[in-house]
Amino acid sequence: GVVVTRELCEARNCCFIPASTASSSASRPSGKNGIPWCFYPPEFPSYSVVSLNDTLLGQKATLVKEVKTYYPGDILTVEVEMRYETDKRLLNHKLFSIKITDPSSSRFEVPISVPTVANKTESPDYIIELSKQPFGLVVKRRSTGAVLLNTTVAPLFYADQFLQFSTSLPTQFIYGLGEHRSTFLHDVHWNTLTMWARDVPPTEQTNLYGAHPFYLAMEDGGNAHGFFLLNSNAMDVVLQPAPALTWRTIGGILDFYIFLGPDPGSVVQQYVDVVGYPAMPVYWALGYHLCRWGYDTSNSTWEVVKSMRNYGIPQDVQWNDIDYMDKFMDFTYESKKFDTLPDLVRDLHAHNQRYVMILDPGISSTQPEGSYWPFDEGVKRGVFIKDAEGKTLIGKVWPGLTAYPDFSDEVTHEWWYDNLKMFHNKVAFDGLWIDMNEPSNFLDGSTSGCPSNNLENPPYTPGVLGGLLRAKTLCATAQQKQSIHYNMHSLYGLMEAKASRIVAKRPFVISRSTFPSQGMYSGHWLGDNRSQWKDLYTSIAGMLTFNLLGIPLVGADVCGFSEETQEELCVRWTQLGAFYPFTRNHNAISPQDPTAFSPLARTAMKEALLLRYSLFPVLYTLFHHAHVHGHTVARPIMFEFPKDVKAYGIDKQFMWGKSLLVTPVLDPGVDYVDGYFPEGLWYDYYTTCVRLPLDSHSCLLSLCVFEQAPNLTLWVSTGQPLHLVSALSQDGSASGDLFWDDGETIDTYETNQYAYIIFSIAQVLSFMFLFCLFV
Ligand code: GLC
Repeated sequence: GVVVTRELCEARNCCFIPASTASSSASRPSGKNGIPWCFYPPEFPSYSVVSLNDTLLGQKATLVKEVKTYYPGDILTVEVEMRYETDKRLLNHKLFSIKITDPSSSRFEVPISVPTVANKTESPDYIIELSKQPFGLVVKRRSTGAVLLNTTVAPLFYADQFLQFSTSLPTQFIYGLGEHRSTFLHDVHWNTLTMWARDVPPTEQTNLYGAHPFYLAMEDGGNAHGFFLLNSNAMDVVLQPAPALTWRTIGGILDFYIFLGPDPGSVVQQYVDVVGYPAMPVYWALGYHLCRWGYDTSNSTWEVVKSMRNYGIPQDVQWNDIDYMDKFMDFTYESKKFDTLPDLVRDLHAHNQRYVMILDPGISSTQPEGSYWPFDEGVKRGVFIKDAEGKTLIGKVWPGLTAYPDFSDEVTHEWWYDNLKMFHNKVAFDGLWIDMNEPSNFLDGSTSGCPSNNLENPPYTPGVLGGLLRAKTLCATAQQKQSIHYNMHSLYGLMEAKASRIVAKRPFVISRSTFPSQGMYSGHWLGDNRSQWKDLYTSIAGMLTFNLLGIPLVGADVCGFSEETQEELCVRWTQLGAFYPFTRNHNAISPQDPTAFSPLARTAMKEALLLRYSLFPVLYTLFHHAHVHGHTVARPIMFEFPKDVKAYGIDKQFMWGKSLLVTPVLDPGVDYVDGYFPEGLWYDYYTTCVRLPLDSHSCLLSLCVFEQAPNLTLWVSTGQPLHLVSALSQDGSASGDLFWDDGETIDTYETNQYAYIIFSIAQVLSFMFLFCLFV
């Protein structure tokens, strides 16, 4: 730890005031509760605006700074491009974006495509005020005057490896900023959220698998806005009680977007419109998935599938973990223990079920030459990430020493595809589970360490776990086609997912590491949770956050990954999991599939899954709206009740769409559950609508939903009759909709191969009318 002394602090033109509550430990850079002792005074040397010009889309300013800061590589002249964007689709007047760059040399920019617009808006929903000396920016909501952004509160830093700005916040209600384990509503009391993709079981106050520099804020009166910093470098986001927020990144440029909402759902739509709409999942992605690390053989995997069928428990997809591989090597299968794997997959297909297998990015580099095509061919085609000297970088994962494919290179995509295709000829898998793609490394950096320079040891290192950028991953100096790993690290999972969407029809990919725009290519599971009640609860916040981030196909390992689950916990988890957009039971250690438990528990799990299957038309229609409009699927209550402040902190309940409220049991030993019901007429889904004897509660608020008679797989279910369930509002009306297509052809919406039906019910005197509109 750095010892922050008065001398050191003042030598940097900063103020040193130990907080009265500070702990006695002087070895930490900040005191108790994270309150800093050393901070920038208002007059700290900063940039001034020296020129300001109108452009086609807004304005351009040049900023100059006279005095260097103590950071090396200070860039004294920067350019600010402000865009008052408008767009024919949905952003109309709602988007304001700013890009701050170095005009004298090009810097790394995140290689994801964002929409470009041709016109400047004439009547924006926002007002911009520019402070010239020192430079600062104030963005207000025109209708209320709320100050959404105010960067005049602290100096702007723009050094080569240290870029920082701060803003006051109009609210303490801040959400998003994944991937972290926390409550859904973030704590703003000196809460530092670090972003840098990392393989570690979900823990509070730690950077996790993905990086998502986007927040949604709820303002007074129920308005919402969003803020997105398009930057992939290691960074800290510091939430402060003022309330205020500091963005601190160590590379790239400052490129940010403000979304004006004004309701929370619209903020997400506007964000998704920038980063990309989530893919429409193949229908069976929404069925029940079973997985386990520890199925020793293909036959033992098969036994579970058969047992599920015997008990009449719905299951659409069976998975295998790294057990299926020969010495944990990608694109191989163990020829003795997994000799019947191709037969298992054929049997699954014969039962309208699907097979998904794991792939890790690390490719074994120690096989005798000529014996392992993926490595030999990869070397030949030059697909692997290089070290600083240009040699293949070698790390260590499950198969031992490994090389890492560089998915930022198109050549790698071709090689990956060739491998997948050859393996698919042997085992006809239907989807891919891409794991360990932070990328994870059991070593720090590589087998030969990493060079010692300013990339490996930057002047400032954000609060990454392990204290070093290379901790349990590759060297920051490693070379990829598009840039150094220092810039590309947190993009690895995104780029691998892009390369992995290859199986015919709608591809199915679930990725551990994610970055903005991931929803276009894959879903996500929340990683290595524990079989504990607390993890059951925190899974809701994780699921809701990823829905805000445009990755609606998300869920946690049902019943918990590590540690041994308990029957009651597993039943409750299956009941909650029945409402995860993506529901997969996965673990290490002993079996925890529904057939492993007592008849009572098994029956409860079966009923929860049958309920999910009966609601498939609802879930599928919600995914259609996510794909086409950027809606959330599982969403926080406040999205539908933005004026109800009591709903802002709720993360024990959630909704599917706009009318179905889920109130799960999250504690042991209870047979009732407390929930919050915003104002409206609510119906108990079980007793009023279908009468299934389940404990966990779901409620409906004036809508029509389709249900289908559930069956063992979604394919068989979809042949069953559909029922319309309606829950009328006080005035006797209700409405709902259904999107229906063949469930697996790509782009059915885009190519007009679907049915879309809108229902509405109106009650006139004592007669009830049902209108159906086929669109
Ligand atoms: C990682 C994954 C976990 C998987 C294990 C073995 O820990 O997160 O889901 O079971 O690796 O492949």
